[in-house]
Amino acid sequence: MSQLTDEIERRRTFAIISHPDAGKTTLTEKLLLYGGAIHIAGAVKSNKIKKTATSDWMEIEKQRGISVATSVMGFNYGDYKINILDTPGHQDFAEDTYRTLTAVDSVIIVVDVAKGVEQQTRKLMEVCRMRNTPVIIFVNKLDREGRDPFEILDELESELKINVRPLSWPINIGAKFKGVYNIYENTLDLFTPNKQKVTERVEISDINDERIDETVGPEDAAKLREDIELIEGVYPTFDERSYLEGKTAPVFFGSALNTFGVKELLDCFVKIAPSPRPTHAVERDINPEEEAFTGFVFKIHANMDPNHRSCIAFVKVCSGEFVRNAPYRHVRSGKVMKFAAPTAFMAQKKSIVDEAYPGDIVGIPDTGNFKIGDTITSGEELHFKGLPSFSPEMFKYIENTDPMKAKQLDKGVQQLMDEGVAQLFVNQFNGRKIIGTVGQLQFEVIQYRLLHEYGAQCRWEPLSLYKACWIESDDAQALEAFKKRKHQFMATDREGRDVFLADSAYVLQMAQTDFPKINFHFASEF
Ligand code: G4P
Repeated sequence: MSQLTDEIERRRTFAIISHPDAGKTTLTEKLLLYGGAIHIAGAVKSNKIKKTATSDWMEIEKQRGISVATSVMGFNYGDYKINILDTPGHQDFAEDTYRTLTAVDSVIIVVDVAKGVEQQTRKLMEVCRMRNTPVIIFVNKLDREGRDPFEILDELESELKINVRPLSWPINIGAKFKGVYNIYENTLDLFTPNKQKVTERVEISDINDERIDETVGPEDAAKLREDIELIEGVYPTFDERSYLEGKTAPVFFGSALNTFGVKELLDCFVKIAPSPRPTHAVERDINPEEEAFTGFVFKIHANMDPNHRSCIAFVKVCSGEFVRNAPYRHVRSGKVMKFAAPTAFMAQKKSIVDEAYPGDIVGIPDTGNFKIGDTITSGEELHFKGLPSFSPEMFKYIENTDPMKAKQLDKGVQQLMDEGVAQLFVNQFNGRKIIGTVGQLQFEVIQYRLLHEYGAQCRWEPLSLYKACWIESDDAQALEAFKKRKHQFMATDREGRDVFLADSAYVLQMAQTDFPKINFHFASEF
């Protein structure tokens, strides 16, 4: 095997996603502890933008500084090189999370055993499903009272629209929680309440082993056997291929806070999770083993210091070896660039790297050359696909309030959109600019950053819209007729595509019925 193939096969690049408060931060931290990347619990916490009310915006500012370092957490675990890509906790930054999901090869979903599937989890799963991303589910907080595990499995299946297959099984929940039977490894892991220590493990021959009765008592042992029999009867044997195709999600039970079930999850994860997979470009599919380097920008992180308007562009390496100072082509501009100070993210430290491999993320200092979705190659003209924008949830007109600073405002808005902070549409009827976001917080971020980084002032004007949909049709005449009829509600996105702004669900439904030849899309890639 070549060195490149070796490096690719040992890489696992993934994201942990959850509804806020399910335990993503805690689990991330425990994984880092296993990887030796941090030495004390609590180190990742500071990164959290948590349950922040809009008035806490300054607090978010402060935290942004830290979050560059924890955006990507790389560490070695056994023979494996693991890259965890962090996603923002606050749902107003959901778009950022969607894009991060395009840069991972698999995902771990954390679900709270008491709450089950929550709204944010459902949405994120949709993005995973679009890309057939393999998913492992960790049901967390078993030390607390929660719902029946069978009920949770049913809910996971119906709400997340994926087959599930338990690979571990809890013995009671909450105060009576005794541990889990590890189906995948055929062991019994005992839980000691209030002890922050790693599981005590009992090796057993099979589910009928008497040691189970001795350790958890005959009653719980009987119940466990009954449950396992039911599981084996209802769920097909775990099929790794079905997992890799994104069709079946293995499920683990545990408690991140108590570091219980975390190592078992990690050990199974490194074994079954995929190493970097081929990436789709408009021109062709790119295999990670190809020698020529290719990569794309999936995130841009601005420096909040107004005196240094520099950014870090996060580039996912898709194929070949990335080498510091080698000449690479920035496909959109056609320019050849050399990167003198690319950084890697290992053990939460940023340091300059000389090379990186598929699955790795490199941070490239930038002063405004990069845009989200940009492709960088050794020379080939390639355009990576798969960084769609979704219809925003909130819309406002943006108005300039300082006529002397119109240019600054324009530039600021353009650059913030390049960074992917929000989406810009221009109304085709009156030429007014509309900003679309996922939540109110983004409007505040934009206003604040325009003022502090560009010296421009803006004001928001309310605009009540339901959805923005990208429209197209094979029938040019039908398209023209639609645009004419809806001319007041037509806008153009930054790529010059036609977007229909529907002001209510009813209007949208009527439009779909009245214009059957028009295709309405809720994501910019179709
Ligand atoms: P998030 O990133 O998904 O938003 O969740 P986070 O890890 O911050 O966890 C949310 C809360 O749930 C935290 O409590 C955390 O300590 C708790 N938690 C996580 N895993 C477990 C678990 O296995 N069992 C129990 N009982 N609790 C768990 P908090 O009070 O909000 O924060 P903190 O004051 O403990 O930091």
